Amino acid sequence: MRRALALASAVVLAAAFGACGGDPSAPDSPPPPTSTLDAADTTALDAGAPDASDAGPAYAFDLPPGFPRPRVPADNPMSEAKVALGRRLFYDKRLSGNGSQSCGSCHQQSLAFTDGRARGIGSTGAAHPRSAQSLANVGYVSTLTWAHPQLRELETQALTPLFGTEPVELGMRDPADVVARLRGDPVYEDLFPRAFPETASPFTFENVPRALAAFQRTLLSGWSEYDKHIAGQASAFGASEKRGLELFFSEELECYHCHGGFLFSDSVAHAGSTFFEALFHNTGLYNIDGNGAYPADNPGLFEITTNPADMGRFRAVSLRNVAVTAPYFHDGSAATLDDVLDHYAAGGRTITTGPHAGVGSASPLKDELVRGFTLTAEQRVDVLAFLRSLTDTRFLSDPRHSDPFAADAGP
Ligand code: HEC
Ligand code: HEC
Repeated sequence: MRRALALASAVVLAAAFGACGGDPSAPDSPPPPTSTLDAADTTALDAGAPDASDAGPAYAFDLPPGFPRPRVPADNPMSEAKVALGRRLFYDKRLSGNGSQSCGSCHQQSLAFTDGRARGIGSTGAAHPRSAQSLANVGYVSTLTWAHPQLRELETQALTPLFGTEPVELGMRDPADVVARLRGDPVYEDLFPRAFPETASPFTFENVPRALAAFQRTLLSGWSEYDKHIAGQASAFGASEKRGLELFFSEELECYHCHGGFLFSDSVAHAGSTFFEALFHNTGLYNIDGNGAYPADNPGLFEITTNPADMGRFRAVSLRNVAVTAPYFHDGSAATLDDVLDHYAAGGRTITTGPHAGVGSASPLKDELVRGFTLTAEQRVDVLAFLRSLTDTRFLSDPRHSDPFAADAGP
């Protein structure tokens, strides 16, 4: 299903960006280098010269302490006007076929840009097989969505929710219709030329995903109590959080191997990165047939690569703001962080009844770092306290990221 989606995006991309011949494998922008995915966990994808992706040094990102600059494609430099345009487009329901949804419907700021649902529901009511992801720090994500090794640019990703048909999300059909709906709106008539001053006709569809991407690159989150603690500032990061941090980074729990670094994720790329790391892991959530099978609508990386070893492998998503992004995992199958810890403590999830029954801990495809461990009641409280300390309340209510159509919209 994701393959079909990816293909649909490529077709739209080719159409929208003016590639000739309609060959979905030959969009205007060069296709990513061929992936050399194998059974190993590390896959380095050459991203070319590091500085090629860092355009727009003039733009002043409001970087959290210790964060590197996000990657910015050379052909889509950042500017305040472009971010303002992108913010408005992100929240504009005219970007859905029936006018009922915007990007912001499934990516709500107060929930760190998730929607609180186990699985997304599109504008026509269609259920998405997967859970809407947080967009906090999404400009640093090396491969976008839950399990797609080649989807690396926000400019490309936006085409899937706009035009995807399996499932329908925003349900737009025609790039020209997107522009037609926005034309004549004085705010857009003003913003498009200011956002794209270098082009003679700035009010085009191609500039819609570009502006959306620019706005999303400003969704920076790194001002949590944990960050204040690391920076040596006064914070609510107390003894329990500190013990939890030590457990999180311990060889017994192993969390940090996959959720390490400034994003608490091992799938990160920034302006200084010299190569892409595309990492995907099977954490033993399912083992339907004893051979490690996941439900048919969510086989993970396997869906793209068709390599049997990739069954059930997903991206280790960032744990920043994780306390507000429930329910958890690609299919929202864990309701609480307690449930998440139960899964890891057992070294894989056991499902006793129903079509998905199986013992995840016995999966032959499970990552060897998901081994299981024992936590005392106090240690469990500590790990949870640490995870909650990653919530950045400033980010969740930052007026710069809020809905400009709301009555109490920020500047
Ligand atoms: C119907 C709900 C819905 C709508 C509307 C929606 N999204 Fe999403 N979004 C999702 C889901 C579900 C995923 C996970 C997709 C997957 O893994 O296949 C996702 C993933 C993403 C990601 C990847 C994040 C990451 O960490 O890799 C980005 C970026 C994103 N959406 C941006 C957008 C933008 C921009 C729009 C508007 C053009 C939009 N979304 C509209 C549900 C939605
Ligand atoms: C082998 C790598 C690996 C290890 C070790 C690991 N994780 Fe994960 N984590 C993942 C992957 C991959 C996912 C997504 C899995 C999925 O949805 O199928 C994930 C998802 C999560 C989520 C859900 C996030 C969300 O927004 O849905 C939480 C919370 C989490 N992990 C916490 C932890 C904690 C706590 C530990 C240590 C006890 C840990 N992880 C150890 C790879 C790992």
